[in-house]
Amino acid sequence: MSTTAIAPKRPEIKTELPGPKGKEIIAADAQFVTPSYPRPSFTLVAERAHGVWVEDVDGNVFLDCNAGVAVCSTGHCHPEVVRAIQEQAEQLIHMCGTDYYYRHMPALARKLDEIVPVPSPTKTHFANSGTEAVETALKLAMHATGREKFIAFFNSFHGRTLGSLSLTSSRSAQRLGFKRQALDVIHVPFPNEFRNPFNPADCGDGGAGQGALNWITERLFKTTTPPEEVAAIVVEAVQGEGGYVPAPQGFLKGLRRICDEHGILLIVDEVQSGMGRTGKMFACEYYDVQPDIVTIAKGIGSGLPIGACVARADLMDWKPGAHASTFGGNPVCIAAALKTIELLQNGLVQNSAEVGAYLKAGLERLQKKYDCIGDVRGMGLMLGVEFVTDTTSNRPNAELRDRIEIACFERGMIVLGAGANTIRWSPPLIITKENIDVALEIFDKAIAASLG
Ligand SMILES: Cc1ncc(COP(=O)(O)O)c(C=O)c1O
Repeated sequence: MSTTAIAPKRPEIKTELPGPKGKEIIAADAQFVTPSYPRPSFTLVAERAHGVWVEDVDGNVFLDCNAGVAVCSTGHCHPEVVRAIQEQAEQLIHMCGTDYYYRHMPALARKLDEIVPVPSPTKTHFANSGTEAVETALKLAMHATGREKFIAFFNSFHGRTLGSLSLTSSRSAQRLGFKRQALDVIHVPFPNEFRNPFNPADCGDGGAGQGALNWITERLFKTTTPPEEVAAIVVEAVQGEGGYVPAPQGFLKGLRRICDEHGILLIVDEVQSGMGRTGKMFACEYYDVQPDIVTIAKGIGSGLPIGACVARADLMDWKPGAHASTFGGNPVCIAAALKTIELLQNGLVQNSAEVGAYLKAGLERLQKKYDCIGDVRGMGLMLGVEFVTDTTSNRPNAELRDRIEIACFERGMIVLGAGANTIRWSPPLIITKENIDVALEIFDKAIAASLG
């Protein structure tokens, strides 16, 4: 299929979904591939993709408002990213940065030093995924502080390997069967402003954010968790898998204050919210806060597997052998990341802010139209729409959310749930207002059809 054939103005659904070829692949997958992947109730069997359009194996074309779960930041197969990958693949695919040197590692680390919200000078450890970047941050925090307790938040998602799983708390399925957790982590309710989990007396006049801060200082520190034993507080600036819930203003600064007072490190996980997704390079920038360590993955490689843990240089004084990865910081992945950052800085972060505001305004119009939309939230192109039974009770409506997700898919648009009853919008950052008009029209129809 040519590029022009895959750049229509509207989705095209030609077969039942999945189509005959898709069904064969799903059957083979069921036979040979692990059933542990948390796949949604609609089934997309992708064959090729370009920009914001994805074609399945049966020739159906979808408008992608999920970007492979917030990964394809520059759109699918951005020609400049493809060229950078191809050119690099012809030069050097792998050399193993754990044992040898190549120019790519310091080039990307220097670039990250320029753009991350961690105070410069920084150092970077390269990984292959988000969870590995988080593992690095956890090990580094233990190593640097000599402490081993962590504070994390309910509904957070930081990955599924054993260390990061100790933090992750967005679904019980992620934990079921794995018994005792590897790390000593205590969870605090996340200050979700739409569903404030704290009672008003605990919040004072500071809202949910103050409630969470007070919970840490007045409950945890005085009972189960002496602050001098806490290595780090780990937090997402915008909770991703938990339902696209931004931290309230003042909350991250409050965490920073607590950390400074007690020698605790602040780790901000920007795996999903980073790399322009929120309309700024990092979501932290909305909160004017400087973490000690930041974790990055997903959007940095435009689809190639790369993660990074960027920390204050003085923290990264561990010795050779303390932590390394055979593939982490592979030259081809770094070439993709450097090109991605260039594209982000040359307009895509800006586009994320502008088109994101346009999308949010459209979603807010739908919120006025439909009593089942309880909340529209987020920044840039990281927006959540929370579905409820009605806006008087705001009772979560997970079934309706699932029906709408499927109804969107049947109409040729890919959106994915996050949390129990929220649809996340995380399209490629190249998406246009014209695409958004089509997306909003489909979303409107999908909601109307699902309510019936
Ligand atoms: C905030 C956050 N941290 C960590 C991860 C784990 O990333 P990965 O799936 O690449 O291991 C994710 C994945 O969704 C995430 O959203």
